[in-house]
This record gives sequence, structure tokens and C-alpha cells, in this order.
Amino acid sequence: MPEDKRRFNVAYRVGICRFMADALFCTSITIEHLHFNFGVFKTSAHIMPNLPGMEEIAGDFGGNFFKPLLICDTNTEYLAAKIRGNANIPVCTLEAGESHKDWQAVETILRSARDAGLGRDGTFIGVGGGVISDLSAFAASIYMRGCSIALVSTTLLGMVDASLGGKTGFDLFGVKNIVGTFFPARHVYMPLEGLASLPLPEWKSGMAELIKTAILDSDDFIGELAALAAAFPHGSFSDGFPPDFASRTLAAGAELSRCVSRAVRFKGAIVEEDPLETGNRRVLLNLGHTFGHALESTAGLGTISHGEAVAWGIARSCDLALILGVCPPQRTERIRALLAAYGYETAVPHPRMGSSAAFIQALSSDKKKRSGNLSFIVPGEKSAQAVLELNMDTISQIIGMEIQ
Ligand SMILES: NC(=O)c1ccc[n+]([C@@H]2O[C@H](COP(=O)([O-])OP(=O)(O)OC[C@H]3O[C@@H](n4cnc5c(N)ncnc54)[C@H](O)[C@@H]3O)[C@@H](O)[C@H]2O)c1
Ligand SMILES: [Zn+2]
Repeated sequence: MPEDKRRFNVAYRVGICRFMADALFCTSITIEHLHFNFGVFKTSAHIMPNLPGMEEIAGDFGGNFFKPLLICDTNTEYLAAKIRGNANIPVCTLEAGESHKDWQAVETILRSARDAGLGRDGTFIGVGGGVISDLSAFAASIYMRGCSIALVSTTLLGMVDASLGGKTGFDLFGVKNIVGTFFPARHVYMPLEGLASLPLPEWKSGMAELIKTAILDSDDFIGELAALAAAFPHGSFSDGFPPDFASRTLAAGAELSRCVSRAVRFKGAIVEEDPLETGNRRVLLNLGHTFGHALESTAGLGTISHGEAVAWGIARSCDLALILGVCPPQRTERIRALLAAYGYETAVPHPRMGSSAAFIQALSSDKKKRSGNLSFIVPGEKSAQAVLELNMDTISQIIGMEIQ
């Protein structure tokens, strides 16, 4: 992976939240520019302390290939406004949240682009979390048969997962991401400053994807995330994420940016190997997701965060790995301790999981999405591996419920 890194120290200002702006954090942050080849597409990821300005983004695209449309949601509109500055650039603001990740939102983006007179040489700039990045990149992939796309990721989940790798899409017929394309963004900006206003549940949701990546990457990365939690007074968030989590984590920005960087490098390397998810590498990123998706859907979409469901799913994958004897118990214990340190619910049965029949049905609908193969990713001695069909007795044991 070719990589060009510029390192320098910066003292930067970031608001604890958007209403308490201007708290001063002086920290040593490494700005990194990571470059990936995803099949025929090239993506550069920029991990940085501050939001990029329009000039910076335009410069990255170079020349005249830049007629921008900013796309954001009601919560990230203020970030889009900061990026826009005084420039006269059209902004398309969508309703926030997964329930608005629909065709109507895509149409709104397409209409804004048409009204603003963008052609194929237009550039969509999605400013937001995974919902905005999936929607903006999908709309870019079909507008005039494909225009340029840049993403400014503003959630932890977006930085470590959703914004990189080219999967785009929206929900239809009540099915998550049933429509989509592969269309990697040319540039992905990950400004830590943008996380200052992120609500705690969203931090917690993103942290689960970081934990997932750490399990796939190395025990060293697991240790790094454990150290991040241990730096807080109680060393564990069993009573919930502490209110000062965001401000303290951002103040010690170097640790956070290092973790984001490790996750981005790891995901980038996997996607480079398997850009269209046709092989057996990229599926590893689904660790915790088969059980997690089933929990999300039985609990009721949106009632439990994606990350909390994934964390519970990771705990189930540990159970399965132990039953199958593919992961040493010391490693599963380390993973469970990390999940506990961040305060995730890992017990079985999960209080929100509904009946075993509903849960099994939800597991089967995941199977439909994967052309009939229900694969589970489980931690291994080092990273993780896929295991195929399980019998009902094993599933019953793992979810802690009788299956009728
Ligand atoms: N394409 C992929 O590879 C991929 C991978 C993982 C997840 N996803 C998708 O990502 C989505 C989840 O992403 P998400 O968790 O970022 O959700 P999200 O985009 O809905 O963001 C969560 C909430 O935080 C708000 N928000 C975002 N940034 C903020 C900020 N800086 N300050 C204050 N509020 C802010 C949003 O408005 C929203 O209400 C799902 O739709 C999922 O399917 C895609
Ligand atoms: Zn996920």
C-alpha cells in the first residue's frame, strides 16, 4: 500500500460540543494521508484534527473537476456550514437517522444536484455519519452515470467503517441496504474536530466497530483500546460512557487518531484484496454482525444501536469459537473483558431479543442476503475465521434459549 505521511504537531481548538465551543485542547496529532486502490478506484483517506475547508478539498480534486454539492443531515448541517465558509456552494440537508435512509433521500440529493446545474463533472461532498456517506455515495454513483464523491466523516463509526471501502446504498421494503452499489469515494476526510458534538450513544456504537477491527487486527490493538478505557478514573464504563468521554478522548487526540488510523489501514488493506466482497477476506469484517443483525431486527430496528448489537454479537462469536475450539480461552476472555470495560450488554438471552423463533427467523433472513450461506465469523488464535452452517443445538446453546 503506497503511503505518504506528513507528520507535524498542532495545537488546535475544538469545541466540547457545538454549544460549548472554543475549549482549548493542545495536543499532538499525527495527520495522515493513506492511499488505497480498490479495484479500478483510488481512495485517499485523510485523518486530521480539523475540518477540511473547501479550498483544501478543491485542491485535492485538482483543476476544474470540481463543481461541488454539499450533502448533510440536520445534525451535521453546522459542520457543512463550517466547511463551506463564505463560498457560494449549494447545500442539500436531509433528515437525520436510519429511518430516513430511503429512496426519497436519494431523490432529494439528485434533485439538488440537478437544480444546482451539476453535470458529470460535479462533486458530491457528503458530510455526516454512515447514513449520509452511504446515501451521498449511492446518489453520486448514479447521477449522470457517475459523478465524483468525497466524504467528510463525522461519526466514529463512519471513520472506522462506513466511509471507506465503497459500499453505498439505502433501505427499501424494510430491508437494510437492499439497494446499493460499489462506488468508493475519491477522498475521505476524517476530522476529529467533527466528533466533538457526537452524542455518547454514537461514540459507544462506533467503539464496537473499533473493537471488532482490533480483534481482526491484533492483540496489540486490543490492548490499545483497553488502555483507552483504563485511562478513565474507574477504568470501566459499566455504568455507561462517562459524560466527559468525548472531551477527554479528543483532548488526548493522539491515541484516538492512532486507533482510527489502525482501523482505516486494516479495513483498507482488506478491501484492496477483495473490493467487491467476492472472496473470503472481506467477510471477516462481519465479525459480530450475524448475531448482531438478528438482535437489531428482533429488538426492533433503531431501538438498540448497531454497535451495541455488534458488541453482543461479538460475545456470541466468542462463545461459538470456544465451542468449536478455534480460539484459546485466554483470548476470548481478553475480548470479553474489553467489551465489559466499555459497558456493553453481553449476557444471554439478551433482554431485547424477543422469542427464539423470531431470532432464528432473523438469522435466516441474513442467510438470504448471503445467497443461502449463513456464515459466522469467530475469533481465532490471532485474527478471525468464517464458520458455516451450525446446528440448532449449538445456536440454542449460544443464545441461551430453547428453540422450539
Ligand atoms: N458502507 C459501509 O461499508 C458501511 C459500513 C458500516 C455501516 N454502514 C452504514 O452506516 C450507517 C450507520 O452509521 P452511523 O452510526 O454513522 O449513523 P448516522 O449517520 O445515522 O449517524 C448517527 C447520528 O449521529 C448524528 N451525527 C453524525 N455526526 C454527528 C456529529 N459530528 N455531531 C452530532 N451528531 C452527529 C447523525 O445525524 C445521526 O443522528 C448505517 O446505515 C449502516 O448501514 C455502512
Ligand atoms: Zn457494522
